[in-house]
Amino acid sequence: MASDLEMSTTYDIAPASAPPDAATTARLPASSKGAKALRRTQAHLDRLGAIKPHEVRPAAAREASTEPGSLTMDYESFFKSELDRLRQEGRYRVFANLERDRGNFPHATWRDGGSQRKVTVWCSNDYLGMGQHPEVLTAMHEALDRCGAGAGGTRNIAGTNHYHVMLEQELADLHGKEAALLFTSGYVSNWASLGTLAAQMPGCVVLSDAGNHASMIEGIRHSRAQRIIFRHNDPEDLDRHLSSLDPSVPKLVAFESVYSMDGDVAPIAEICDVADKHGAMTYLDEVHAVGLYGPRGGGIAERDGLSHRLTIIEGTLGKAFGVVGGYITGSAAVCDFVRSFASGFIFTTALPPAVAAGAAASIRHLKASSQERERHQANVAAVRAGLTAKGIPLLDNPSHIVPVMVRDPVVCKRISDRLLAEHGIYVQPINYPTVAKGTERLRITPAPFHTEADVAHLVRSFDTIWAEEGLPRSVQARVPA
Ligand SMILES: Cc1ncc(COP(=O)(O)O)c(C=O)c1O
Repeated sequence: MASDLEMSTTYDIAPASAPPDAATTARLPASSKGAKALRRTQAHLDRLGAIKPHEVRPAAAREASTEPGSLTMDYESFFKSELDRLRQEGRYRVFANLERDRGNFPHATWRDGGSQRKVTVWCSNDYLGMGQHPEVLTAMHEALDRCGAGAGGTRNIAGTNHYHVMLEQELADLHGKEAALLFTSGYVSNWASLGTLAAQMPGCVVLSDAGNHASMIEGIRHSRAQRIIFRHNDPEDLDRHLSSLDPSVPKLVAFESVYSMDGDVAPIAEICDVADKHGAMTYLDEVHAVGLYGPRGGGIAERDGLSHRLTIIEGTLGKAFGVVGGYITGSAAVCDFVRSFASGFIFTTALPPAVAAGAAASIRHLKASSQERERHQANVAAVRAGLTAKGIPLLDNPSHIVPVMVRDPVVCKRISDRLLAEHGIYVQPINYPTVAKGTERLRITPAPFHTEADVAHLVRSFDTIWAEEGLPRSVQARVPA
């Protein structure tokens, strides 16, 4: 019997009852490889015709054949035609091959084929340049020399290092919570924690903000708990949904503080008020806020004096803290519960000790120093002011994220390519499914280390490209805080 995964892998791609590939084929030139592959796949499905999903044996699907007339799927052609489709839609992802230049952040060497050039990075999530901070590097070198490369096991079996324990204490203190729990990434921390809590609490209903990150959505889906999506940043809608639920069922409200693509900020206090009214737990993703906001870098909740109101605060070590890893913080009981039941925590090798040491050094530094945060905010303001003065269409928001709205995937990619090749500026285009179709953008993230000259060059380059491309200049569209 095929598992759910196998079944969906087979049928999500091209179920016998799915609309024929006409729409897809129509987007491709009739003679293109992609169109031919799709025709072959369609012919294959037509031949399978009457076979119902449950009658297809996974073993047969695995026996790939490229023989003409074969009944089995031509996997390679399928992959290639799907990739062709992404290219045609202008949302095929091309990674910039960068070599970060330590001590010269945010500058890097970009390699393209055989050539290379120095570029200025304007889209890094190493928001404060902590990935190159001397205290972080020293701590990592020391831990590497002392403990070696890897952790040597899962947290349960030989992999818990003293550096992990110290880092968890540092994180609990950062958010004013009793305990913290480390994960290998922010994605895994969301996926594992939400997935575990929602699955293990009998009858749990999860109320998820419509703008939540993929890692939260996947975790909630994985739990198979009932999921209700409330309107983005809308406590009234949340209240309506919570009011419709049986007061006795466990409820978990999951949302973010700073939303990574629009840069808008959640009304945390109001959401907590509503959650409290209905006896719901709250889970706040502060991935794009930790290190950056609050007197000690504890995020928006710390800045607004709200940390104590959240049941769980989740964060990453990979963005403003400049290293890698993720975590949750909360009561001793909730962290212990996730530690004890989450497969995404239990069954994986612990973070390398040097990573834990570097992250702890970064957090310690940012607890004591606000200099990076102040320079960061000043540069964000300078970039916004410069681009706004030129009429470059920005999405206004109260955070450090500066989205330049292009609203077309092909144009967005072209501007990004031109900025890189002609101006030595790297800003990755952001397309569907990261953002909705029609809202494609260039997401600029100024760092404290961009100089005045860097900012002036960025603004000039955008202005030049906007003129050469004949793109509309506009008044800002405001995203409510
Ligand atoms: C809101 C949000 N949560 C979680 C994550 C995942 O964090 P990490 O990159 O540490 O896996 C991201 C990543 O960009 C994110 O934007």
